[in-house]
Amino acid sequence: TFLGLDLGTSSLKALLIDDKQRAIASVSVPLDVERPRFGWSEQDPASWIAACEDVLAKLKAEHPEELTAVAGIGLSGHMHGATLLGADDAVLRPCILWNDTRSHEEARELDDAESRAISGNIVFPGFTAPKLLWVARNEPEIFAKIRKVLLPKDYLRLWLTGETVSEMSDAAGTSWLDTGQRDWSTRMLEKTGLSLSHMPRLVEGTEVSGGLRPELAASFGMRAGTVVAGGGGDNAASACGVGVVEPGTGFLSLGTSGVLFTATAGFDPVPETALHTFCHAIPGLWHQMGVTLSAAGSVEWLSQLLQEKPDVLTGALGETLSEPGRLVFLPYLSGERTPHNDSEIRGVFAGLEAGSNREAMTRAVLEGVAFSMRDCLEAGGAGARPERLIAVGAGSRSAYWLKLMATLLGCEIALPEAGDFGAAFGAARLGLCAATGADPASVMREPPIARRFAPEAEKAAAYADAWRRYRALYPAVKAAMA
Ligand code: XUL
Repeated sequence: TFLGLDLGTSSLKALLIDDKQRAIASVSVPLDVERPRFGWSEQDPASWIAACEDVLAKLKAEHPEELTAVAGIGLSGHMHGATLLGADDAVLRPCILWNDTRSHEEARELDDAESRAISGNIVFPGFTAPKLLWVARNEPEIFAKIRKVLLPKDYLRLWLTGETVSEMSDAAGTSWLDTGQRDWSTRMLEKTGLSLSHMPRLVEGTEVSGGLRPELAASFGMRAGTVVAGGGGDNAASACGVGVVEPGTGFLSLGTSGVLFTATAGFDPVPETALHTFCHAIPGLWHQMGVTLSAAGSVEWLSQLLQEKPDVLTGALGETLSEPGRLVFLPYLSGERTPHNDSEIRGVFAGLEAGSNREAMTRAVLEGVAFSMRDCLEAGGAGARPERLIAVGAGSRSAYWLKLMATLLGCEIALPEAGDFGAAFGAARLGLCAATGADPASVMREPPIARRFAPEAEKAAAYADAWRRYRALYPAVKAAMA
């Protein structure tokens, strides 16, 4: 059997799978996020360890034999967090998370042509490097004590194995990685007052990073030295979970945020479009990712406002795709990453009329998010267009939305059967590869597909026009609200 551990922002999840990759058990434990000041978002690394002890104890109580049989463990986690360790690996301050925006000025400072060329990305405020510059300036006594900087799931690895190791997909979100070379950049480290000695050793996601410590193995009835794989950042691990491991394949995630993820054969960054270019968790592979911050989150907002469940709102539209509505929604409820990299912009409904009812507003919200995903697709250019996208996340329950996405993105959208195909599953698959040496392409198959949605060619031109109207609104709103 194999074990996937996914350190999410709101919970730590453990998924146990058998040798045929069938789920045996899944357990999760909630985690808290502290917001001590405006724009701050932190977590206590000790809470990750406590949660991990909890899920392992639960698995031991309910599935002791399967836990003993675990041959490989894989890790996944929320990206970009800064976990600062001093002497004896003591944690120096709470981890500063991916959605913490305190270091926006430091990010702007670091974001120049050189850093974009090396890292392949804009230095976003959420990324790790600007956080260290913030600590150096605001907490110099802490900065002086730093011996190692670890990403969140890599701190969990340190506890599991005693090793300080990271892997390419998560490391690419720090701004310290030479993403094309898959190695730390001494130049980028230097810009934040750090050196190679502060960084963990790097492995690929499918490689062995260490073995389970004997003390832990004994307390959970596991085998000492059980292989722990490199694993991956949560998006790369999700890609492994849905089988997006061949260049040109991709997935569309409609969670709180929306992600359009494409696996690519080479390092071909387009930072000016605010697309992310990161290493994949599979050797020799990269990926591009467009992110919109409020996808299903926008439907959730409307649902609270109208006091009606999201599925009821979207269900009321039926399954027949209409022509684009006259009402236009910009889904920038929490700002926007791709394509605007604008944390200050906010959303808008344009074209309200006396007859605008809840159906019109729901349709406009679904269309606005789909337009934003089209922006992500356009940012990637012609080379990065997948022929088909696998749909995941809460929003993928709306057939209307998936038809709309297929038509606007000009590709088939495939909806998997119900099941556990997320980051924890991807992590377990990476554990399987590291432990057995199996070929990732044969392990990371696509899930069984329940429904396929094709673009509706006769409506594509009308939707492309509507998308252009949507595009014209951003600069106007930006100017008016400045
Ligand atoms: C990716 C990103 C999030 C985090 C948290 O760039 O910020 O997906 O990994 O899930």
